[in-house]
Amino acid sequence: MVAGTLPAPWARRDAALTDTTIAIRPERPSDYAEIHTFVRTAFETAKVAGGDEQCFVDRLRASGGYLPDLALVATEGDRIVGHVMATRTAIDTPTGRREILLFAPLAVAFDHRRRGLGARLTRDVLERGRVGGFDAVTLVGDPAYYGRFGFRPASDFGVANTNGIPDRYVQMLELVPGALAGVVGTITYVT
Ligand SMILES: CC(C)(COP(=O)(O)OP(=O)(O)OC[C@H]1O[C@@H](n2cnc3c(N)ncnc32)[C@H](O)[C@@H]1OP(=O)(O)O)[C@@H](O)C(=O)NCCC(=O)NCCS
Repeated sequence: MVAGTLPAPWARRDAALTDTTIAIRPERPSDYAEIHTFVRTAFETAKVAGGDEQCFVDRLRASGGYLPDLALVATEGDRIVGHVMATRTAIDTPTGRREILLFAPLAVAFDHRRRGLGARLTRDVLERGRVGGFDAVTLVGDPAYYGRFGFRPASDFGVANTNGIPDRYVQMLELVPGALAGVVGTITYVT
């Protein structure tokens, strides 16, 4: 961080988010089967779920947008207790495709919730994405949860979606301040 500037909201850290028994690392092929089961189980207790988030993970991994360094697991010993993915997507603009990240999905084991692990995974993958050269990220999710990281409605940025998803659930975050200034277009979310 440059001296004298404030940290970005998604980069904020506090002591409650530091749990030294939990490690975060990129997923490996040997994790895939466990992740499939983990994500299915985690979404059984989600506020909103489509029922096939575990297959969505598999589809994202098989897609051209997969970024192995931005698919993370949180582990406690040998057990996976959290998972998050960010993959390559784009805003279709009148002047071409503007590449950004898609943040989805995020899952934390039921017995590890409300201890900051979801926030830790979110901040970690966003920071890795920024370091990897991405300057903005989008997601479809609950604004009550994601607002704390600085996500705002995509419509604030002049970005619509072609899937018919209500604007308030379609959110965006600039990883580099001002990155989306003047960008107008549409996103088609993979399903
Ligand atoms: C959403 C989820 C990842 C949060 O993980 P977590 O480790 O509990 O998150 P944190 O500890 O960082 O934050 C917990 C806080 O977020 C709140 N929260 C969790 N899910 C929320 C939601 N959908 N909407 C609003 N707030 C939510 C909790 O009430 C808690 O608030 P509090 O700190 O004021 O008590 C976890 O609940 C989960 O895996 N749910 C099932 C899968 C899911 O819904 N994924 C998100 C959609 S992609």
